[in-house]
Amino acid sequence: MTDVSPSPIKMAARDVSVFYGAKQALNQVSIDIDMDNVTAFIGPSGCGKSTFLRTLNRMNDTIPSARVEGTITLDGEDIYDSSMDVVQLRARVGMVFQKPNPFPKSIFENVAYGPRIHGLAGSKAQLDATVEQALRKAGLWDEVKDRLHDSGTALSGGQQQRLCIARAIAVDPEVILMDEPCSALDPIATARIEELIHELKGRYAIVIVTHNMQQAARVSQRTAFFHLGTLVEYGSTSDIFTNPREDRTKDYITGRYG
Ligand SMILES: Nc1ncnc2c1ncn2[C@@H]1O[C@H](COP(=O)(O)OP(=O)(O)O)[C@@H](O)[C@H]1O
Ligand SMILES: [Mg+2]
Repeated sequence: MTDVSPSPIKMAARDVSVFYGAKQALNQVSIDIDMDNVTAFIGPSGCGKSTFLRTLNRMNDTIPSARVEGTITLDGEDIYDSSMDVVQLRARVGMVFQKPNPFPKSIFENVAYGPRIHGLAGSKAQLDATVEQALRKAGLWDEVKDRLHDSGTALSGGQQQRLCIARAIAVDPEVILMDEPCSALDPIATARIEELIHELKGRYAIVIVTHNMQQAARVSQRTAFFHLGTLVEYGSTSDIFTNPREDRTKDYITGRYG
């Protein structure tokens, strides 16, 4: 099998375990996240995909019972080190959630908020340009340029999700984490997001959680299969789907369980 082209490692996890109180949800996960490839996390519901995704920008910090063990680095820097500024980290490693969650503010303000709090706003003209650029990269500009001051929540679901992607992009992230970003969207809006992921590939390291295997095959070059809190297999997407090494992976991708 041909592998994907080598790409610099953006994030590396080593022996990452996560506990919610006494319950262990993830067991010693180690993985390298490429800069230039889209990485998909697949696996049955409850296997720990979201839990692991959240360790990558310390969103688990917001869950009081959650405890993370192991090491995760971003460009070689330990993101759990006490010197790490978590607000800054979440700008560098942005996140898009399952259900689009725009702020109850205007389209413009949704995108301008991050640059303002991170001191990236500059003059009014600079902020306008930043907002326009982020909306363009998110493939939303043409649809909203004449109504930037309408509420973000008045957009369609697919547009709201692209607005959330624009909001992440506006603070100039290095990594974008997406947790089942299309699961609340219709097929046309889903196709638009998948297209967008292709356009953003290479510009940002992208990780997408999906329970839709066809989607993983369409958008990613690397796939990680999780089962019962462990990372069973990680490799090029084509290998995982056509030539998996592990029986558990084969059983999952052939639909034996899910
Ligand atoms: N906030 C939480 N508190 C307690 N347990 C949780 C929490 N979030 C997830 N879990 C548990 O951790 C395991 C993994 O969940 P999750 O990461 O959401 O899986 P997935 O995203 O693959 O469906 C499940 O058993 C789930 O019930
Ligand atoms: Mg999940």
